[in-house]
Amino acid sequence: MIKLKKNNAQRETEFMAKILEVNDLITRFYTFDGVVHALSGVSFDLDEGETLGIVGESGSGKSVTMMSLLHLLPTPPARIEGGKALFYSNRNEQNNNTDPVDLLQLDKSGIRKIRGGKIGFIFQDALSALNPVMTIGRQISETLIEHLGMTVDEAKKRSIELLEYVGIPEAEKRFSAYPHQFSGGMRQRTMIAVAIACNPEIIIADEPTTALDVTVQAQIIELVQRLKKEMKMSVIWITHDLGVVAGMADRVLVMYAGSAVEIAPVDDLFYNPGHPYTIKLLGALPKIGEEGQHRLESIDGTPPDLLSPPAHCQFAWRCPHAAEKCWQAVPAAREISPGHHAACFFDFAARRP
Ligand SMILES: Nc1ncnc2c1ncn2[C@@H]1O[C@H](COP(=O)(O)OP(=O)(O)OP(=O)(O)O)[C@@H](O)[C@H]1O
Ligand SMILES: [Mg+2]
Repeated sequence: MIKLKKNNAQRETEFMAKILEVNDLITRFYTFDGVVHALSGVSFDLDEGETLGIVGESGSGKSVTMMSLLHLLPTPPARIEGGKALFYSNRNEQNNNTDPVDLLQLDKSGIRKIRGGKIGFIFQDALSALNPVMTIGRQISETLIEHLGMTVDEAKKRSIELLEYVGIPEAEKRFSAYPHQFSGGMRQRTMIAVAIACNPEIIIADEPTTALDVTVQAQIIELVQRLKKEMKMSVIWITHDLGVVAGMADRVLVMYAGSAVEIAPVDDLFYNPGHPYTIKLLGALPKIGEEGQHRLESIDGTPPDLLSPPAHCQFAWRCPHAAEKCWQAVPAAREISPGHHAACFFDFAARRP
């Protein structure tokens, strides 16, 4: 069942400052088959202490967005061809000011200081994200030594505390274990321990629970929610599961074919969606009472070919409301109510009673 988290008024009193502002991010892949237009101008922001959920079909650009910000894409074939990603770090020790840094402009050593330090990340596949030939303990210790300058002994002590903190039983003994000796849920917890080791300001989680069974999934979500509150982090949570988004996100970004088509406070998005794609996504949800995950797979038609994106609305082919102008130009995102933006020529949110 979909449970919404909080209303707009609560949100406004709780969150104030921006911590990340992404503007017009353009990422392309130069492949033998042609240029893949993976991101065509993605914009969103993230407030301090909030959870932003990102949803969208497979291939819509969710992972490429995050990997662009963290410089994790292989170059070539990837090229970031435009945009800004301003990070308003509050803990800018060097010069003690609040000027943002543009993540996209950082060199290798600059991004390495931030990635795993001020911005932690958790991926779907812990087994491939963790180094199989390095003990769990060493993987956490190395992050602490690299980013916080701890000694080996200090790092070991802290690593054990972190393993305990994320709920690994017998943490001291397990410090010397290898990833393959852990269950899926324990590996995911370990990856979370690595991600939070340096007390990051932002955690980016890309489908962190997809490979886990439903019970373990719920435990991991609960763990991240607890950590977020205790450590005052902002979270970006990428998922196919609208039920998860409804339960934990403050705002939701909907992606379609490399663009952000809608962004809204969670309750606005679920009760008053403004983009026909979002309306379809919500319509494709299983009815209350049905078992299983709320996956986004049952919308008619296929997304456009990113090798030759059209010069009109990307959703026009699948949109039941497509009109003449939808075939002539790409609609820009418009604010349809405070904090609620949709990239559609029409205002479907306003039309509903
Ligand atoms: N290394 C690459 N070379 C070429 N194209 C790529 C590469 N990596 C990603 N893409 C393309 O970029 C687009 C966006 O991919 P992305 O992985 O961000 O999708 P996603 O929304 O995360 O999907 P999923 O829900 O399946 O994880 C897709 O069309 C994908 O094929
Ligand atoms: Mg992905």
